[in-house]
Amino acid sequence: MSVEIIDIKCDFLVVGGGLAGLYSAVRASSFGQCVVVTKQTLVQSNSYWAQGGIAAAVDPEDSPVFHKEDTIAAGRGLCDGRAVEILVEEGRERVADLINLGMKFDSDDSGLLLGLEGGHSKRRVLHAGGDSTGKEMIEFLISFVRSSKSVTILELVTVTDIISDGDKCYGVWGYDEGRGSYVRISSSSTILATGGASALYRRTTNPEGASGEGISLAWRAGADISDMEFVQFHPTVFSGLRENSFLLSEAIRGEGAYLLNARGERFMEHYSPLLELAQRDVVSKAIHSEMRSCGEDYVYLDLSHMDPGFVKKRFSNIHRLCMDSGFDLARDRIPVAPAAHYTIGGVRTGLMGETNIEGLYACGEVSNTGVHGANRLASNSLLECMVFAKRCVDGAALGLYQGGVREFSGFMLADTRKANAEFFNHARDAVIKGMSAHLGIVREREGIEEFVARISEISSEAKGVSGWFAFKLRTMLDVCLLVAQAALLRRESRGAHMRSDYPQEDVDYEKHLVFRKGFEVYGSD
Ligand code: SIN
Repeated sequence: MSVEIIDIKCDFLVVGGGLAGLYSAVRASSFGQCVVVTKQTLVQSNSYWAQGGIAAAVDPEDSPVFHKEDTIAAGRGLCDGRAVEILVEEGRERVADLINLGMKFDSDDSGLLLGLEGGHSKRRVLHAGGDSTGKEMIEFLISFVRSSKSVTILELVTVTDIISDGDKCYGVWGYDEGRGSYVRISSSSTILATGGASALYRRTTNPEGASGEGISLAWRAGADISDMEFVQFHPTVFSGLRENSFLLSEAIRGEGAYLLNARGERFMEHYSPLLELAQRDVVSKAIHSEMRSCGEDYVYLDLSHMDPGFVKKRFSNIHRLCMDSGFDLARDRIPVAPAAHYTIGGVRTGLMGETNIEGLYACGEVSNTGVHGANRLASNSLLECMVFAKRCVDGAALGLYQGGVREFSGFMLADTRKANAEFFNHARDAVIKGMSAHLGIVREREGIEEFVARISEISSEAKGVSGWFAFKLRTMLDVCLLVAQAALLRRESRGAHMRSDYPQEDVDYEKHLVFRKGFEVYGSD
């Protein structure tokens, strides 16, 4: 059977259609022809669902210096100071650029309305459409890239392989689900912006597509992967089944909501002087501990002391989601529990988003730029997407006409999905169960080792699986193993990583764990 292969050549190839990908495309369109490839449609990205907003020190009372201090305090000793400086300083410029392009953030007669979130010492979170910031920003950028003659968007195309000889990247192979054909995209600069891996947990705020494929692709191509043990759990996710769980933004606590345990007692004073606005890891761990002591799998978020009119207007989207689940956000105590939210680790980059493979860049959640350390400060991620997307493109543009495009051969995927669906679903369930049980908020050696053994069993059982599901399975197992190995090696508790068998922070671990394929642990610094 002959297989159709479509060959595409471009100056910039962007993999991923969330904020980092779209912003890369906007920037790249000034320099040359850009192709954006996304395995879903543009409105299915994780960024699209971002409720909170984008943190930037735009208020005259605020300063990037304060923003930097807050970011570094949240990162528990593991932030890269220079990367954070770039984030907070250039972040203000990127927000201004976006406003100049025509993006509207919520404001009133006195100017931009700024929200407060956990770990921030100032009100600095810009939002749009109340609690629909991600949607508003993504829709704005989609309209920009769709009208640009320099940007081509390929939706429903799954990237199955990065073409690299280990030193240099030449482009990617993709499978076009709509047409049933293969795409070979050649580019001298490939920017990975594929998002994180939190959908590998049972309770998650992320859409199903957030399965960490970009991390696996980069890892297989020989890129360095770091900080994978740091999986951030969001403290307040509606505590229903996976189907109807949804995020209740930290901005709600920023406006004054309380956390109550199942006995109806406010408890954060026992954990932090910052109360409900302590950093995210502190609040998640406090909730975990209260749930255990009360023997329930939820605590409550309570807004009943706040002005109901304000609550309904400021959080209209969340109010509607609560109503759909039978709760009135303005009056009822809402059951919430932590859920996997953000992959802090990822493809290790330098300050221009460059990886150790020439021509391969990464930005957004798939990357590990060093700005988040061991615990990401709320609403810093949309900012990171824009700041480092621009840097990736600027870095790539400098090298653009030097390397040229080389012919390559690569891996091609056979579509045998029907044959292996049952095994894949069974394996996926086992992986999600293992991640949730052993690599959740609190971990310990025995549980992680048990899960590593289970992954190796699944890998052996999967020997007969080929094509599409082999690809899906291997990406999932790669990411789980990276998280598990890093979590085992970090024998301390720091930020988003808590080991019950090593409950203290240990100064010897004030370093990063870096993995490279073919090496047990490539290095730490
Ligand atoms: C939220 O709205 O609480 C999420 C914001 C974030 O994770 O940065």
